[in-house]
Amino acid sequence: MQTLSTTSLQVRDNQLWILDQQALPQQKNWCPTPDVASLVGHIKALRVRGAPLIGLSASLLLALLAENGLPKTELAAALEVLRAARPTAVNLMNNLDRMKQVLAQAPDNLAVALSREALRLVEEDKALCDRIAAAGAALIEPGSRLLTHCNTGGLATAGVGTALGVIARGWQQGNVENVWVDETRPLLQGGRLTAWELGELGVPYQLICDSMAASLMAQRQVDAIWVGADRIAANGDVANKIGTYSLAVLAHYHRIPFYVAAPHTTLDSSCPEGNAIPIEQRATSEVTGVAGSFGDVQWAPENARVYNPAFDVTPAALISGWVLDTGVVTPAQVAAGAFYGRRG
Ligand code: MRU
Repeated sequence: MQTLSTTSLQVRDNQLWILDQQALPQQKNWCPTPDVASLVGHIKALRVRGAPLIGLSASLLLALLAENGLPKTELAAALEVLRAARPTAVNLMNNLDRMKQVLAQAPDNLAVALSREALRLVEEDKALCDRIAAAGAALIEPGSRLLTHCNTGGLATAGVGTALGVIARGWQQGNVENVWVDETRPLLQGGRLTAWELGELGVPYQLICDSMAASLMAQRQVDAIWVGADRIAANGDVANKIGTYSLAVLAHYHRIPFYVAAPHTTLDSSCPEGNAIPIEQRATSEVTGVAGSFGDVQWAPENARVYNPAFDVTPAALISGWVLDTGVVTPAQVAAGAFYGRRG
């Protein structure tokens, strides 16, 4: 496969490399990803993360395995293992469905066809991000103070990102005064990744603990909230990083616009409503302390019982607009069935 380089994915020497997002921003470690077990490990550990990126990394790995001679039956088995690596973000399933179609067609040169499809998915994702940024930036009023949650930037996609791409475009257009960045407990994607990306872009931001958002809204310090999505159900309900729902409730109370930015590959019209979206439950150690590049620290009692869902569901009724690559979808359009029959 030709060499490829995005913010957080590389293909070189016929191998996939992922930028370890658990070590950022302190360390920039590129991890080799030679096989399915290593990518599943990286996905589960959130070294590679973000709905679009996990789908792209799985598709690229599958194509590279084909190029390295893995037979068709084993490729099909590998695809199913990758598909199950994380349950909530539907981009993984949607991208792998595209790869599965190529496998099913069994063209003469399967490896070339799979590589072409994986690279096409990467290029498409870049274009989708650009269109989302253009559509979303048009909604940003001059002097806006925006709040975002988790990380939805270049690290989480092949392109400029989704919600963070919108914010960056709005800033480039001179309309963003400040970005409030939720640190996003427990894994701190906001505090580590979004803060780092905004800093690199030169966008002014202030980092806050998640619990500080409410008082900022009460003080009229937030003009709009922008988040990404891991899955959008047919009725418009959105699964996204845990903490998104509380922001939407707060935004509703304070009459602040709440926008979801996502590519159409995040739509799942086979899922009727948010309650049907599978929510990943994660290790208790993420809540009882911190681990990894921060060192291992536990502050909770040894036997503390823990609840740790990675995502929550925001009902469509709390969303002001779904900003897709195809344009802005309004609550009235969603209520009229705009997402039914649509799948990434
Ligand atoms: O657990 P993560 O870090 O993969 O969760 C990421 C999010 O919730 C993002 O908001 C979503 O995947 C969109 S990324 C463009």
